Parts: sequence; C-alpha cells; structure tokens
Amino acid sequence: METKTIHLIAAARPNFMKIAPLYHALKKREWAVPEIVHTGQHYDVNMSDAFFEDLMLPEPHHHLGIGSGTHAEQTGRVMMAYEKLLAKVRPDLVVVVGDVNSTVACTLAAVKMSGRRPLVAHLEAGLRSFDRTMPEEINRIVTDSIADILWTPSDDGDKNLLREGIPAEKIERVGNIMIDSLEMMRSRIEREDTMSKFGVKKGDYGLVTLHRPANVDKRSTLTTLCKTLVQVSQVLPLVFPVHPRTRKNLEEYELLEGLQKASNLRLDDPIGYIGFMNLVFNCRLAITDSGGIQEESTYLGIPCLTLRPNTERPITITQGTNRLCTAENLEAKVNEILATKGKGTRKPDLWDGLTAERVCESIRRRLSNR
Ligand code: UD1
Repeated sequence: METKTIHLIAAARPNFMKIAPLYHALKKREWAVPEIVHTGQHYDVNMSDAFFEDLMLPEPHHHLGIGSGTHAEQTGRVMMAYEKLLAKVRPDLVVVVGDVNSTVACTLAAVKMSGRRPLVAHLEAGLRSFDRTMPEEINRIVTDSIADILWTPSDDGDKNLLREGIPAEKIERVGNIMIDSLEMMRSRIEREDTMSKFGVKKGDYGLVTLHRPANVDKRSTLTTLCKTLVQVSQVLPLVFPVHPRTRKNLEEYELLEGLQKASNLRLDDPIGYIGFMNLVFNCRLAITDSGGIQEESTYLGIPCLTLRPNTERPITITQGTNRLCTAENLEAKVNEILATKGKGTRKPDLWDGLTAERVCESIRRRLSNR
C-alpha cells in the first residue's frame, strides 16, 4: 500500500489517551504517516502538555491554537482553522475521537472539503445518553451522522447507530481505546505514588472529579454538591483534583474556601495521566461526572458513583461497577459501598488493550480499497 497520511485530532484532555495508543500503533506501520493535530481546545500545561509527556506523544505536528470560547465560537474557530490546514495537507484519513466541540468541528470541515476529501473515522462512536441538553450528545449525534467510519467500543454503540439508520457497513466494533492507554502505561502507573502527596492510603480514600456544566455551572447545584462532598469526606477522605471550569465557578460562587477548610478533603490542580491513574487504581471508590472514569473504574473493578441523571456508557452499569447518583443520595450510596464489598464487574468484550491494533487493521483495509 502507498503511504497514507492520517490526522489524529486531539483537542481536550479526554482525547489524549484515546489518540496515544493509535499514534504508537500507526507509527509501527510503514504505510502510515500519523500526524497529530492539536486544536488547542485545552491549553493549560496540566490539561495538555503533561498528558503528551506521560503518553509519550511527540509535539503535535499541527497546532490550531483555538483556546476557549462559547460553543459556536470554539466550533467555528476550529472549523475555519482546520479547513485551511486540510487544504494544505490533504490527508487520506481524519480520525476524530470522543465527543468534544473539536470532534464535530473537524468532522464537519473534513467531510465538506472540496475535491478529493479524506475519509473521516470516529473512534468511540455510537455512545448515546439520550439527553440533548448535554453539548456532548449533540456532538456525538452530528459526528456519527456524517462520518464515514464508525468505530464503536461496545454493542450498545452498534445498536444506537443502526437505530439511527446508519448503514451497517460503516460500523465496526473495535473496543475501548482508553483501556489500551491504561495497559500501555500500567507499570508506570503502578510504580507512581500520588497517594503520599495527598496523605492518603491505598483503599482508604475516594477520588472526586467534577466538570460537567450541569453540575458546576449553576450556583445552587454546585453549592449543594460542595456541602455533600464535605459531609462525605467525614466518612471517607476525598482527593479532588479540580478542573479549571470548576475552579473558576468555585471561586466565583465563593465556595472554594469552604472546601479548602474541610480537613479530609484534599484539593489540587488537575493531575497528569500517570499520576491521576495511580489515584484511580488505588481508591476505594470514585465520585465523578467524567465519561472516562466510568469506564476505567469498570475495567479495574472499582466502585464508581456517577453524579449524572444518565450515562452514554450504560455498559458500565449493566456489566460494571458504575451507579448513577445525585447530590441528595450520594452520601447514602457511599455508605452502602463502604458497608459492602461493592458491585462486581465483568470486563466488557474487546476492552482488552488491543483496540489500536484493530483500528489499524480497519484503516489498512478501508484505505487500500480506496
Ligand atoms: C470539554 C468538553 C467536555 C469534556 C471536557 C474534559 C466540549 C463541549 N466539552 O469541557 O466534553 O468532558 O472538555 O475536560 O467540548 N480552561 C482552562 N484551561 C484549559 C481549558 C479550559 O482554564 O486548558 C477553562 C476555560 O475557562 C474554559 C473552561 O475551562 O472556558 C471550559 O473549557 P472548555 O474546553 O470550553 O470545556 P470543558 O468544560 O473543559
């Protein structure tokens, strides 16, 4: 096969661990020229550079430098910048991952490119929360409806896409690429000791992350959540690396000080991949609204309480350790987990660390037919 240029779109923190295994797997193929395109949606050192370093990624080959903004601003700026790059580079394939604004923006720019356009593949396709108030749900639906190749992590993804009328030949179940990163980095994660930095012990703390607009943007909701976390921390020490969106709102609503004063609640800035995963591996339970942590905890068999009314990752509930909860019932659910051994887990099919290999094979097949 002739060499093929493949763009891997990386934009925000949860994207980096999805492109890393694929970048490394493509680098081993002589027919592939993988290029990382960083849109710049996340730009702080601890939201971006730290992940590139931990995941052994090179400097991005292209950086669009978009930064923050409203949804329309961010999406529009990525589309304009990526369209220009596409006209110059003309890749054979564009891989978008996850569900952030840059995912949909790059997909739109690539599929509407004039002349011989690249194929667009969505990695982590088919996930649905059926909650259109979530910006990510809109990004998922739009991306999946116009991309050419849809790589799904689980059976529910295939079913959702088929129900939406997507032709079956576009859909391929490849498994969960985040698990590839976890397995690729496992020995370094296990060697790390983030716990001592926070003065907590293995199996004796809860790990908290919160960043969804529905949880952190509204004063009353965030206030209730903060009160609940302080209460929970009296039962189980909590480690809480704070996302920049959340920190901004905690400051604005004058809630930060109250959290800092709670003696069993350890706040910090966001932590890189290896250090953070060390906290995931060793925690008693996770309290989160992240998508990725629902999956990682299911894979590791660690109880997870998801502060959301729904999830686009239902397999983490049906097979895994995840449970949905609210600020009101969080404390009771934590107590329930502490009183029992917690929910068992069954690793979903194809969450095996070999997803990047399956994706490479899919790319080879699809591009050699072109
Ligand atoms: C974005 C994604 C979300 C993903 C999350 C992971 C969308 C619509 N949302 O949400 O799906 O789960 O990333 O983190 O794409 N900020 C910084 N430094 C940074 C990045 C952001 O300070 O490096 C601050 C800015 O004030 C910014 C705010 O955080 O306005 C929100 O960032 P943004 O990228 O808009 O959304 P996230 O909440 O991070």
